[in-house]
Amino acid sequence: MDEKISIVYQGKTYESPVITGTKNEKAFDIANLRKETGLITMDYGYQNTGSTKSSITFVDGEKGILRYRGYPIEELAEKATFPETAWLLIYGDLPTEDQLTAFRRLLTENSLIHENLLHFFREMPPSAHPMGILSSIVNALGLFSPRFYDTENQAGEFDLMVAGLVSKIRTIAAFSYKASIGEPFAYPEADRSYCSNFLNMMFSSHTKPFVVNPLMEKALNTLLIVHADHEQNCSTSTVRMVGSSQANLYASICAGICALWGPLHGGANQAVLETLLRVQKSGMTVKQVLERAKDKTDPFKLSGFGHRVYKSYDPRAKVLQGLMEKIFSHEDNQDPLLDIARELEHQALSDDYFIERKLYPNVDFYSGILYRAMGIPTNMLTVMFAIGRLPGWIAHWKEMHDDPCSKLNRPRQIYMGEKERHWLDREERA
Ligand code: SDX
Repeated sequence: MDEKISIVYQGKTYESPVITGTKNEKAFDIANLRKETGLITMDYGYQNTGSTKSSITFVDGEKGILRYRGYPIEELAEKATFPETAWLLIYGDLPTEDQLTAFRRLLTENSLIHENLLHFFREMPPSAHPMGILSSIVNALGLFSPRFYDTENQAGEFDLMVAGLVSKIRTIAAFSYKASIGEPFAYPEADRSYCSNFLNMMFSSHTKPFVVNPLMEKALNTLLIVHADHEQNCSTSTVRMVGSSQANLYASICAGICALWGPLHGGANQAVLETLLRVQKSGMTVKQVLERAKDKTDPFKLSGFGHRVYKSYDPRAKVLQGLMEKIFSHEDNQDPLLDIARELEHQALSDDYFIERKLYPNVDFYSGILYRAMGIPTNMLTVMFAIGRLPGWIAHWKEMHDDPCSKLNRPRQIYMGEKERHWLDREERA
């Protein structure tokens, strides 16, 4: 039986249908609300507003559940490769052997960026933030392949564009790092896995061949998988927003990268490490950090803690904790920042302020320490988040384009400004 919700307004009753999701989540459809009542809804930050139906990712914030196309994140983190996960998110099922072989070949064949783009890296200041470089170059990729601007109903072209983006984002990230340290670029190699290629492009040098540590390669694979999608988060909603105007995929992804950069979102992993480094170098105590986080007069927040959806432990943080045990059980991987992070978590989880607000570690709390163990610099941590999140952004952009119900995203507002008034010449103005 279709559920309905009734709204009584100015003596009249209006009925709206209730939509029920796969896991019994409920929403009432307000598509006709304004037409029938003259009302719009108001919901700062869209905390209670669904923007779309989606079949890509399911998150249960109370139970700490995350599934990509129905597969639990724990299983994918343990058994999948990142390219497999990317395919799953974008195309809807785990790839067959042939599909995965073909996808891997496309990733290999499309890992290079146009040589003209290398000048961009060299012209940027060494201190340029890698997220600014990444967003710029991703948008520039389209300039070299304008045929991809119109991929409607051109499946082959779309698949090629997708593989190119998923592959080249690694190259752009690694090249931005090499440029920042003044070293020559290390190019992708055809016989390496997705993760091994990235680590080699980052750390190989012409004087010392780089041997990929299998444990770090597996850790990178897991980190990219747990970051791959998270339903309608800020950056994914941005990709959908920009894509809803029928802007091309490169422009939409560029916008997603920029949204991810903020410290309330993907930039939190860099902010976590900066907090840990500040504690380590300044002698600030963990207690003092928590006091600042709780002080309403202090804009400081404990990065890596709290989440709009998870009101229990972020299942991704649990996966990363398991990964940390493996990485840091090796005596040559010790890091004093880990001890500080563990103490921060311990004290926060036993502090009433955090308990009452259901603030738990999120995916960003431990990811930075793991990337640091690989040698990834602090200012590249959000770039690493973007590399992981790219398949999710693409999947949502595709789902939106394939959805016949999709429309241009254009929210309404309630105007609180001046009533009508008329022009004043300068001498008349107060
Ligand atoms: C990501 O949406 C996604 O799915 C995102 C993501 C993904 O995969 O895409 O999971 C990735 O962005 C994770 C979040 C990373 N950001 C941080 O770690 C930054 C620190 N966290 C906070 O800024 C905050 O928790 C947010 C922004 C993440 C969520 O905030 P909300 O949902 O807007 O909640 P809120 O700010 O209204 O907080 C509710 C209360 C407030 O206190 P009161 O007004 O009730 O007294 O909790 C407090 C907040 O001040 N609070 C914090 C806090 N987080 C919330 N206080 C101190 N430190 C914090 N980290």
